[in-house]
Amino acid sequence: MKSWFLKNSIQGRHFQLRDVPSPEPKSDEILIQVQAAALNRGEFLNKTVSADETDYQACGIECAGVVIKVGENVKQLRLGDRVMGRSRAAFSEKAILLAGNALLLPSGLSWETAACASITYQTAFDMLWPGGSLQKNEWLLIAGISSGVGLAALQLGKLIGARVIGTSRSLQKLQLLKKHDLDYGLILPGESLAAQVLEITNGKGVDLIINNIGASIFAECVRMLAYKGRLATVGSVDGEKNAQFDSSLQHTKRLKFFGVSSKMRGKNETFELVNKFKMDVLPAIANGKIKPIIDEIYKFDELPKAVDRMVSNLHFGKIIIKI
Ligand SMILES: NC(=O)c1ccc[n+]([C@@H]2O[C@H](COP(=O)([O-])OP(=O)(O)OC[C@H]3O[C@@H](n4cnc5c(N)ncnc54)[C@H](OP(=O)(O)O)[C@@H]3O)[C@@H](O)[C@H]2O)c1
Repeated sequence: MKSWFLKNSIQGRHFQLRDVPSPEPKSDEILIQVQAAALNRGEFLNKTVSADETDYQACGIECAGVVIKVGENVKQLRLGDRVMGRSRAAFSEKAILLAGNALLLPSGLSWETAACASITYQTAFDMLWPGGSLQKNEWLLIAGISSGVGLAALQLGKLIGARVIGTSRSLQKLQLLKKHDLDYGLILPGESLAAQVLEITNGKGVDLIINNIGASIFAECVRMLAYKGRLATVGSVDGEKNAQFDSSLQHTKRLKFFGVSSKMRGKNETFELVNKFKMDVLPAIANGKIKPIIDEIYKFDELPKAVDRMVSNLHFGKIIIKI
């Protein structure tokens, strides 16, 4: 089968489309014939900061397709099932998923939509529900709102009934976001973010912040949180790892900081999140209340072009590879 391999280096990203043997699912895994896969920023972040080089590795972490083989301990899925979810080597003709990460496609959902309805939404869910305990009418600020995770957080925040402020470096993207129920859009960098947020919220500050950007805005986030505010760090596109902030604000405002990443999380913890997501969010995707926003759909052999679009920040919504 054909499979894309990626090497990240200081010079940039190098891709190879290789012919490799079809993988064999382990006892708790399934093998699917991939129909569509989605791009996620994390795996394309360039290694210019650490200067580490990786070897070529099969790439792609999210896709949708038809089950063609199941491991001997998999009871909940059968051959022919249409599934979506976190996977290994998703930019391939066939890919492996842990059965516990696979969700059955709601009827009527296209392959392209299904391919991008898992990781960003589960990440946003993790921050808004279990991590951030966001409540109706609370203020949610999403830094880097035009990102895949940011758009998913906007839609889920609105599903809860929160009021949402978003930041972007692009006025054009903020204007597009007005059509997606964004309450306030702020340009970053621009005037003091905290001052603008305090004005919008009548001096209260925001209850929950989703920081997609990184350490460069951490201190500003601490300044604009309300009493008992929560701050979720989901990633870093700014390349900054260190932040200096006024810790007395954390103390007096009783702030909570937490991170969201799948790197150290065990299988069972992930399955628990996927199950909660299935109950709390999947019905809204099935009935069309939540509609993943698709930016562009590329052909299988166009992966490098698709990645260029993402790393140039030209996209608005998810970039899909049709296999
Ligand atoms: N994808 C996931 O499910 C997932 C899961 C866990 C963690 N993460 C992390 O979350 C972050 C977002 O991932 P994604 O896949 O959603 O990203 P994405 O769709 O590629 O969006 C990233 C956005 O960040 C903004 N941006 C880029 N460089 C920036 C900079 N130097 N300063 C300020 N803003 C910048 C751009 O928005 P504007 O052009 O509008 O400014 C860009 O569209 C990444 O750090 C990723 O590793 C993602």
